[in-house]
Amino acid sequence: MLRHYIPPKATYFCSAIDRFPDVSAVVVGDIILDVFLWGIVNRISPEAPVPVVEIQRETRALGGAANVANNIRALGASVYLIGRIGGDPEGQTVKNLLTERGIQSEGLVASNRCPTTVKTRIIAHNQQVVRFDREVRSHLTDREMKSIASFLEDLPAIDVVIVSDYAKGVVTPDLMEWLRSWTARRNIPLVVDPKVVNASFFRDVTVLTPNHVEASQIAGMTFVPEDDEHLCDVASRIMEKLRCQYLLITRGPGGMSLFSRENSPIHLPTIARQVYDVTGAGDTVIATLSVAICAGLPVIHGAYLANLAAGHVVGEVGTAVITAHRLKELVQRSCNR
Ligand SMILES: Nc1ncnc2c1ncn2[C@@H]1O[C@H](COP(=O)(O)OP(=O)(O)OP(=O)(O)O)[C@@H](O)[C@H]1O
Ligand SMILES: [Mg+2]
Repeated sequence: MLRHYIPPKATYFCSAIDRFPDVSAVVVGDIILDVFLWGIVNRISPEAPVPVVEIQRETRALGGAANVANNIRALGASVYLIGRIGGDPEGQTVKNLLTERGIQSEGLVASNRCPTTVKTRIIAHNQQVVRFDREVRSHLTDREMKSIASFLEDLPAIDVVIVSDYAKGVVTPDLMEWLRSWTARRNIPLVVDPKVVNASFFRDVTVLTPNHVEASQIAGMTFVPEDDEHLCDVASRIMEKLRCQYLLITRGPGGMSLFSRENSPIHLPTIARQVYDVTGAGDTVIATLSVAICAGLPVIHGAYLANLAAGHVVGEVGTAVITAHRLKELVQRSCNR
């Protein structure tokens, strides 16, 4: 029922990857600062039955929509990040990280109502001990919405808009309505990684990229793993409900399947490999797919690159991104087999 994908020659992909530096993308969504505190445990606290972690080092990383932007930049394209940070030191940390990586941050709004969303993990002996989150979920205000709209109106040529929703409040029905009409006027694709609670916001977009669990929930069906027939039913319901042009359902170790209005569904399996860290794989998928489409690849071939890229990041310790150079190497290896 699901056709299997057969890739074209490596040179086809390599010349598209060579065009990545010409691509200019906008990422809109919820920005997260990921903080990692690394330490060791030598004793249990006398105050409560919990371990005492002695912190030895701290690292910080861009999360949420900022991680999508980070992935796009690593692939060599230009990227503007739009979203909200707090007027706090963590917001400044986010800005500094963006600047270091060459991601345009002038379109961020700084809020005095909401702090920067921070997820802090304490890790001892390479095991997560606890995670604590600081966030205030709050809808974008009219003023914030206007400021984002006027920033976008003034931008020069943009090739794609990517929405990375983590349901913290930046992505609203009004924002989506505005983006739909803006991208339609500019004749550029609108690619969305949806959160289930906000699924109804995402009607009539170009590509939607839920994972298989989210897809089942959006369709209002029970999740059945590794069942192609069930996935096809899920996909038809979503296509009917949300009318997207393409629906790319990511399936974790099972790869991904692409559904569209015109063509029959196609499946792309993953190449079996050692997996270290699957977080952020979805961000790599939407980033790679979007840049690839802008470089002229049809969605199905963009999905192939996205699948290779995500397979790479899940197999690396602490790397949430892939470079264009590395992606080319993977293409050469997998297309010439
Ligand atoms: N265990 C794995 N082995 C190989 N590839 C994987 C594995 N897990 C994920 N991937 C790759 O990453 C892609 C996206 O993963 P997944 O479907 O888990 O998305 P996700 O749930 O949105 O991820 P996240 O929310 O953690 O960023 C898959 O389509 C596949 O290419
Ligand atoms: Mg995801």
